Amino acid sequence: MRENEVKAYSNGKKNGVKVFVAGSYEALSKKAATIVAGAISNKPEFMLGLATGTSPLGLYSNLAQLCDEDRVDFTNVTTYNLDEYYPIDPENDQSYRYFMNKNLFHKINIDINKTHVLNGKAPKWEDECSAYDAAIEAAGGIDLQVLGIGNNGHIGFNEPGDTFIWGTHRVELTESTIEANSRLFNSKDEVPRAALSMGIGNIMTAKQIVLVANGAAKAKAIKDALEGEITPWCQASILQLHPNVTFILDEEAASTLEAYKAI
Ligand code: F6R
Repeated sequence: MRENEVKAYSNGKKNGVKVFVAGSYEALSKKAATIVAGAISNKPEFMLGLATGTSPLGLYSNLAQLCDEDRVDFTNVTTYNLDEYYPIDPENDQSYRYFMNKNLFHKINIDINKTHVLNGKAPKWEDECSAYDAAIEAAGGIDLQVLGIGNNGHIGFNEPGDTFIWGTHRVELTESTIEANSRLFNSKDEVPRAALSMGIGNIMTAKQIVLVANGAAKAKAIKDALEGEITPWCQASILQLHPNVTFILDEEAASTLEAYKAI
């Protein structure tokens, strides 16, 4: 595939899932930015759900560029992020609030008061979670949710387990997630052991979902999510039931998909 190419694939199931495979991370990020910016431009008051992590960084820099070029306007956009470590001070440079300010909010024309990240310093996490759900619902729900995917198939911090949890909740992080996230800390011991995260219900009730994934480490999770059975052991597999979800992948992340191998 050429670097700037993006191709559409089918996951072989008749459902609301679209799959795009891009020839490079830049092409993947541009495609995602075009979809997100297009959706924002089509609705006057927009509720945007956001993710942190390395996967959406290219999407965010492309959105910042489109904003610079006056091709997307964030004035009427309200954002809700998926998750935050707990406990963590929002000023800590490892917090997801810090990450979002640095990589997106400070680069676009958004009113910072309309950006919401779960408060890692909330004295009572139960109250923080229920207030978050109530605020999202009161604002009419999320129009478009951006997702990454964990190597173990998690979305948000909804880790593999025997249930899907509906609303925002506290999560004890799995060893595999602590390990994966330790690359961003000085040592594994510094990674917080818990997080607050939107639940599967918050994600599934978003009107549209765009999931970005790149790199070989994501190939198994992507295969399980798109072609496996729907099971809480791969939380992302529930996305097969969503009416409007788009996976945007690079060739490595797509490499084990049957539809992709058939080409
Ligand atoms: C982050 C989040 C996580 C990440 C996932 C992938 O807000 O919700 O589910 O999307 O862990 O992380 P990266 O993109 O760093 O591989």
